Amino acid sequence: MKKIAFIGLVLVSLTACKKDKVENYSNANCTDTVSFNNEILPLIQNNCTGCHDNQNGYSLTNHSNISSNSAAIIGSMRNSGYQLMPQGGPALHDSIIKRIECWVNQGKQNN
Ligand code: HEC
Repeated sequence: MKKIAFIGLVLVSLTACKKDKVENYSNANCTDTVSFNNEILPLIQNNCTGCHDNQNGYSLTNHSNISSNSAAIIGSMRNSGYQLMPQGGPALHDSIIKRIECWVNQGKQNN
């Protein structure tokens, strides 16, 4: 499982580079402003929307429905109060989840 998680992370990192660092793993803190359009939305689209485009109880497709479901999104990513998501795991890297928490703490901006 660890190997799979590692390979997954490498693949995600490579993809992130290609997309001009859409997902910034080295900055898992709140010292800068998280961009919904450049970070959060692509992250949810890549990991969640395939199964949650008005299916399986949640629609995670835009700022409005991602904002209103942010507690469930983070809860499921941390397997805390919700089933682990992405379904079947592995869990997303902690730095990714922290960026989403930063975005929530910064007022869920639509930026
Ligand atoms: C491979 C498909 C798949 C992917 C990818 C996926 N989900 Fe799910 N998700 C499901 C299914 C199916 C359910 C319903 C499970 C059930 O009701 O037993 C579900 C349920 C949930 C729930 C409710 C869980 C609960 O315990 O009430 C949340 C919240 C959720 N998903 C969020 C997410 C988020 C956030 C992501 C991306 C990190 C994600 N999902 C990725 C298939 C998926």
